[in-house]
Amino acid sequence: MTVNIDRSSLLRFDRISAAAIMLSLASGNLNAQTQSAEGGSSTVIIFAGLLTAFLVLLVFFILFVLGGDVEPLARALRSAYRAISPKSGGEAMPIDEVHDGITELDNRVPPWFNYLFGGTVVFAVVYLLNYHVWQSSPLPLAEYAEEVAAADLSRRVRMASEGTINEDQLAALVDDVSIKEGREKFQRNCITCHGTRAEGIVGPNLTDQFWIHGGGIRNVYATIKNGVPEKGMISWKLVFTPKEIQQIASYVLSLQGSNPPNAKKPEGNLYTDPKPQPKDSTKAATRL
Ligand code: HEC
Repeated sequence: MTVNIDRSSLLRFDRISAAAIMLSLASGNLNAQTQSAEGGSSTVIIFAGLLTAFLVLLVFFILFVLGGDVEPLARALRSAYRAISPKSGGEAMPIDEVHDGITELDNRVPPWFNYLFGGTVVFAVVYLLNYHVWQSSPLPLAEYAEEVAAADLSRRVRMASEGTINEDQLAALVDDVSIKEGREKFQRNCITCHGTRAEGIVGPNLTDQFWIHGGGIRNVYATIKNGVPEKGMISWKLVFTPKEIQQIASYVLSLQGSNPPNAKKPEGNLYTDPKPQPKDSTKAATRL
């Protein structure tokens, strides 16, 4: 049985299917764009846009320049492939090396490998000019410094927008929101050294009445703010705003007498508030 296939009709590009392909491309691109808009990656958007533009142009080119005949395009692709793929057969020269009956051949280096090598040379030149001669792109160190400066600026803005507090009239906060905020920050930043329940690990137990640097809101606030760098606790004033330190200190003090399991034995001196407020002296006494 013979089947006659008209090759030229196979290579004819049907305009309806071309329109269908373009439509699906456009919708695929739209989909990618909305997805990456949610994910926030501009690279994906640019890449999807370029790819779509290329494919749409290609379809137009085939339809209107080549008149739907893809044979010239296929020819161009075939000759491009021939140019970079090794010539088949008969090219390897025997060199006079025979070991154990195995003849070593001097194979021709495949063109794609040479092009790759040439490509790396071109890349190196472009890279050198871009980064070191014209300095049009920042080197990693400069890029890092820029990012640090930007982060520093945003931190300053945050600190400034949260204002300052009067440290002389500092009071322990007792409202649920402040204690909750304080607990969250303590759990995220302090438990590696003080333990999840402030029972003490490397750092001292913060739930007893013994303090190395003094108890009470003002001392605890100052210790957190300035840290004890020589003992391994950093100064937190660059991390938290004054208000946040007040919340953390208030949370720490709310744990007084909580008697957690595995508590570290007391360190420092028994602390009693020097001048308890007469009005809520009972409260202060139980808390400190
Ligand atoms: C890298 C470990 C480490 C981290 C993290 C750490 N601390 Fe400390 N902290 C210590 C050490 C060690 C001491 C004891 C300093 C000393 O012996 O003078 C201490 C002391 C303290 C004190 C004083 C205790 C006293 O007896 O006077 C307070 C309050 C305190 N830390 C709170 C915090 C808070 C709040 C955080 C989180 C924002 C925190 N620490 C994070 C290691 C740490």
